[in-house]
Amino acid sequence: MPHPLHLVADTAIPLAAGDRLHLVETAAPELFPHLTAGGGRLPRLTVGTRLSPAGGGPDLLVVGVCSRPGEGDVPAGRVVAAKALADGGLPAGANSFHIEKTGLALAWITLSDKGSQGLRVDAAGPAIAETCAAALPIALAQGHIIPDEPRELTALLVDLAITQGFDLVVTTGGTGLSPRDTTPEATLAVLEKRLPGFEAAMLAASLAKTKHAMLSRAVAGTLGQAIVVNVPGSPKAVRETLAAILPAIPHGLDKLRGDPADCGQG
Ligand code: MTE
Repeated sequence: MPHPLHLVADTAIPLAAGDRLHLVETAAPELFPHLTAGGGRLPRLTVGTRLSPAGGGPDLLVVGVCSRPGEGDVPAGRVVAAKALADGGLPAGANSFHIEKTGLALAWITLSDKGSQGLRVDAAGPAIAETCAAALPIALAQGHIIPDEPRELTALLVDLAITQGFDLVVTTGGTGLSPRDTTPEATLAVLEKRLPGFEAAMLAASLAKTKHAMLSRAVAGTLGQAIVVNVPGSPKAVRETLAAILPAIPHGLDKLRGDPADCGQG
């Protein structure tokens, strides 16, 4: 359902497809351009949300969200990064927007000491994006390559799932037995509901491919409104494990968000 939202700009904003705007969620009029709800409560914007200007102009896709500290009279708030999906422009003044979530926002995280230093080309992260896009309506896919540092992973998982509102977060690598393999421990530290069925489905599908699958300690579960899944580090393992769980993702996300519908139909 569309909701009204206002983007207030002090000057006209020319936009080309792909341009990014940083919009401050605030009622403080000195900050331009900024988002308001016309005196009402601003709806919480999450990544993957489409903002459509009611008065014409290009649609914007929310591609990032971060917190902005308050200072003096300026209250703390959030900054929304939005990408123009077409050429066009927005006039000065209050632009009214409809907001709509039309697809899923996917974040992938490659755990690799070498990859994070640019010493190895990452093929597993792009394989996640490709495999998910083939099976799900992905509106936004964003990737990160970080070292096998558990604190970096837990901080990134919380940021992606809680602050930014990604729907699906898939990590690759670090699930095995090597000294630096800590992905499952770091993930478990922030998961709220574990999904043992996802873990069992991935293991069963993987054992059908290789006996070495039993060396992966990958876990899955929920964090906020997101489903978080570990998969092993090779692109082959990415495809084999995701094939087992992607069919259950849309229904899982619906249930996570409180869908009261009867499950007996499917
Ligand atoms: N699962 C699938 N489906 N396919 C694979 O090729 N490789 C295994 C296992 N799981 C594999 C798999 C191997 S060789 C290892 S060591 C573990 O995942 C851990 O991999 P990781 O440390 O890269 O996460």
